[in-house]
Amino acid sequence: MRAMVLTEHGGLDKLVMDANYPDPKPGEGQVVIKVGACSLNYHDVFTVRGMPGIKVPVPVIIGLDVAGEVAELGPGVSGWSVGDRVLINPIDQKRGLTGEMFNGGLAEYFLASEEQLIRMPEDVSFAQAAALPVAYGTAHRMMFTNGGIKAGDKVMVLGASGGVGTCCVILAKMAGCEVIVGASSEEKIGRLKELGADWGINYIEKAFEKELFAKYGKPHRRSFDGGVDVMVNFTGGDTWVPSLKALKRGGKLLTCGATAGYDPKTDIRYIWTFELKLLGSNSWTVEDLESLMAMIQDGRMDPPIDRIYSLDESGEALRVIEDREVFGKVIVAP
Ligand SMILES: NC(=O)c1ccc[n+]([C@@H]2O[C@H](COP(=O)([O-])OP(=O)(O)OC[C@H]3O[C@@H](n4cnc5c(N)ncnc54)[C@H](OP(=O)(O)O)[C@@H]3O)[C@@H](O)[C@H]2O)c1
Repeated sequence: MRAMVLTEHGGLDKLVMDANYPDPKPGEGQVVIKVGACSLNYHDVFTVRGMPGIKVPVPVIIGLDVAGEVAELGPGVSGWSVGDRVLINPIDQKRGLTGEMFNGGLAEYFLASEEQLIRMPEDVSFAQAAALPVAYGTAHRMMFTNGGIKAGDKVMVLGASGGVGTCCVILAKMAGCEVIVGASSEEKIGRLKELGADWGINYIEKAFEKELFAKYGKPHRRSFDGGVDVMVNFTGGDTWVPSLKALKRGGKLLTCGATAGYDPKTDIRYIWTFELKLLGSNSWTVEDLESLMAMIQDGRMDPPIDRIYSLDESGEALRVIEDREVFGKVIVAP
């Protein structure tokens, strides 16, 4: 089969197309999937570059989010038939994370464990389903399960134009929140408003916390006046302390990552003075993914997809993520 293989850590030139990669053969409890779509995430950039503390067994086929059709069943698999449409849960309890610890979806075929299969509703496309697990699954858990966002909350989403960010915007609007988006260009802010955002701040040009003070007032330490209820911050770096400053007394900071740096200088005074709640989220459950597919099926959600690339164009698909040229999700359809 054809597959995009990460040969060693480094730049995008370490992703190499192999036109004669061995076809996967299903063992006990395994299923071969004909890949319909694979979405890419910022996580794949970290996998290619190499992450401190995570040892990736290269060479490996990257790509965490896979949707496709059952092509071949291994011994002992029951309840599934050739041709069934499935979304893959990237977390495999035995093998680890798909496209990192074992071969992922940037290939014509993918070897799944039976436990990874989630049945897809007929009217959800492979591209829509593949957009979900890592970005939307985590956003669903962060906003609802852990974040407990509710109608009337003022919610600011930083990095709102990316995979996790667009989902946070959609879910916050669905919950009846007032949504403020942060992005690096007016064009992205315009598109986020089309998704439902109430207003936006270009944080390259303006200090977002000052724009929030101007609109809602500065947070007051003895009352609950000023500031926003929720800051969604998976950027880290120098956005961390301004995010603490922008929260009202009792406000929540939701995080699931740190694209711009995981060890920023912090200021603990804001946490106690304003009784802030810092809530982390990591990954998703199968229920998160099923809820999201149901939202697509009944028309409440349609994940914005920036572009669908061919397998040969996977390197370029990852470059646009790294260079912040993306709005929503990037899909590779082998
Ligand atoms: N813990 C988990 O389970 C989990 C799951 C999913 C994602 N994550 C993490 O969440 C973060 C977002 O993931 P994603 O897939 O949504 O990424 P993405 O699609 O690339 O979006 C990230 C957005 O952040 C903004 N950004 C701000 N500073 C940036 C910088 N220095 N470099 C790149 N982008 C920057 C960009 O928008 P502007 O150009 O408009 O600023 C970009 O669109 C990543 O750190 C990822 O590792 C964690």
